[in-house]
Amino acid sequence: MSIQAAQRMGLQCLSLDESENTPASQIAASTVGSLHDPEAIAEIFRACMLVTLENEFVPAASIRRAAELAGREPDCIIPGVETLETIQDKLKQRKAMTLHGIPGPRAVPIDDDGTLAVATLGFPMVLKSRFGGYDGHGTRIARTQEDFEDLKIHWAGGGWMAEDYVPFRREIAVMVYRTAEQIGCFPTMETVQTDNVCDLVFPCDSNATGLAMNAVRAVEGYGLFGVECFETERGDILLNEIAPRPHNSGHYTLDWGGISQFEVHIRAVLGLPIPEPDGVPAAMANLLGVLNPGAWQRGLVEALTQDPEVHVHWYGKVASRPGRKMGHINAVGPLARERVVRAREAFYQAWQGQASPESESPKKP
Ligand SMILES: Nc1ncnc2c1ncn2[C@@H]1O[C@H](COP(=O)(O)OP(=O)(O)OP(=O)(O)O)[C@@H](O)[C@H]1O
Ligand SMILES: [Mg+2]
Repeated sequence: MSIQAAQRMGLQCLSLDESENTPASQIAASTVGSLHDPEAIAEIFRACMLVTLENEFVPAASIRRAAELAGREPDCIIPGVETLETIQDKLKQRKAMTLHGIPGPRAVPIDDDGTLAVATLGFPMVLKSRFGGYDGHGTRIARTQEDFEDLKIHWAGGGWMAEDYVPFRREIAVMVYRTAEQIGCFPTMETVQTDNVCDLVFPCDSNATGLAMNAVRAVEGYGLFGVECFETERGDILLNEIAPRPHNSGHYTLDWGGISQFEVHIRAVLGLPIPEPDGVPAAMANLLGVLNPGAWQRGLVEALTQDPEVHVHWYGKVASRPGRKMGHINAVGPLARERVVRAREAFYQAWQGQASPESESPKKP
């Protein structure tokens, strides 16, 4: 979707991904290679004036090495490689936030037998893989010492941290952009997660924009960032984590009538002026992979037949796995939330259980 925004402005794009036939490769030039491989990344550095990410798991060390191999300065990548390095390690990210006075749960590394974490935090606590977590993979809750021991299979290998469990009232998120000249944000949105996967996004009456912009300053971030927060019963806002890229909580901006997060992303990468984001209140429901998917086109037809006012976005991912983000539905206006939920239901019902050529192709593991 960032490529689509860039192409509208006449830019040529090249993507690197680990598999063929990705959504990006369907619309622009692409190469296939490991996102950890400096040589594969160097190819992008050699071919492109500017480089950006839609995935925070490209190791900072590989990017530095790639820049060296290509004879480029690492600062032609946005977000900066140091920012990325801080964000890639959830513990380092928390430390940066604490240092800058951004409120959030206390976090400690899990040492050899876990005693430090238990003594410092007590229960319930949240265990997280420091590196590589997404959609809740790498996040576990331990409510008792017994749970903690049961989860040893994960944390005993090292690279895990523990943090205070936050009994939040709701989760909220803010998209923040920052260039050398400007910092600003999109409105605060509520994000509902089901099974740790973002499910529904709609406007929210609390305001986390100040905290979100400070969080981006704390990691010296430039570019576009999704800042995820918790709001407690008392109305306190705590930082959960930052994503250094366009974010699911900003997908509604494709249809809200104002500038989209993807255009802001591209403008921030180019260092171009960005207008204050403004649009009609809008909501988004994710389309997640279902068991036994049929022809997704039936879902598209059904959702739009039921409500012509919604907008269906389908990413063109080859394999549909249960829970995988395959697309989303946006709607605008006062009933946007109800509309996207209803349209998604219609989509799912028509999609499930109908044989389609895609559902018969081999699945990725
Ligand atoms: N400290 C906490 N207290 C309570 N719930 C938490 C805490 N940390 C995470 N969670 C829950 O787990 C979900 C996933 O956690 P987190 O955002 O850290 O992981 P992730 O897998 O990197 O996320 P994402 O889905 O954004 O890629 C959160 O959205 C929230 O619902
Ligand atoms: Mg998260």
